[in-house]
Amino acid sequence: MEIVITSSTSELASLGADVVQATLARKPDAVIGLATGSSPLPVYAELGRRVAAGTMSFARVKAFMLDEYLGLPLDHPQRYRTEIDEKFTYVVDIDPANVHGPDGLTADVPGTCTAYEAAIKNAGGVDLQIVGVGTDGHIGFNEPGSSLASRTRIKTLNEQTRRDNARFFGGDLSAVPIHCLTQGIGTIMDARHILLVALGEAKAEAIHQVLEGAVTSRWPASILQMHPHVTVLVDEPAASLLQLQHYARDTFANKPSWQGF
Ligand code: F6R
Repeated sequence: MEIVITSSTSELASLGADVVQATLARKPDAVIGLATGSSPLPVYAELGRRVAAGTMSFARVKAFMLDEYLGLPLDHPQRYRTEIDEKFTYVVDIDPANVHGPDGLTADVPGTCTAYEAAIKNAGGVDLQIVGVGTDGHIGFNEPGSSLASRTRIKTLNEQTRRDNARFFGGDLSAVPIHCLTQGIGTIMDARHILLVALGEAKAEAIHQVLEGAVTSRWPASILQMHPHVTVLVDEPAASLLQLQHYARDTFANKPSWQGF
């Protein structure tokens, strides 16, 4: 696991975009996993700038979203597909038909989840999965207590997560859906490379527990310790409780130039 503590959001955005660009340089038709929420936004914006500058292209890329709220109407601004389209799809040059997400309006939840798993598999699996982390340690919407081997399914959102996300719903907790569809932890762990992005002091405890604590469903993202290829990009506030932050800084400062991401 590579942990990079960045000194600014723009440095984090640039390194995150470097990770994506390295993936596409190796495999122009890569499959990318997309997180919604605030954490990846600087990276998506930087990817948009690089596409506009002609230095990279998503023309052959397929993308799979991590999760979706259950029951939000198609025209709801907080529907994750709407968010991803605004912040990623229409910002880069990906074909919108190649962006997939769980159908939050399905009448057949189990069938939709099984089909989503099959679609990821048929695409060849995810080459690079971008994830954020919840203040309670969730990845995707796999809340504490989730099976570490879980696949795409319905989950009930933790009240803490709904409170955290109420900011996107005008501060109205009752407007935040209670259920979602999310890739499982086993699904996420199948990705060949995982990029975790976390910003802000509110994530400090989760980042400490997830990266330095025990591997436990109490902090679901801690399973990433078991993955062979994880890149973590954090800002100083999110890294502030890391006990091994000096080692992370030394390692990155002395990273061999050939190594890349
Ligand atoms: C979003 C997702 C969530 C978020 C997490 C952090 O698709 O799967 O796990 O990554 O809730 O959200 P932000 O980035 O808004 O702090």
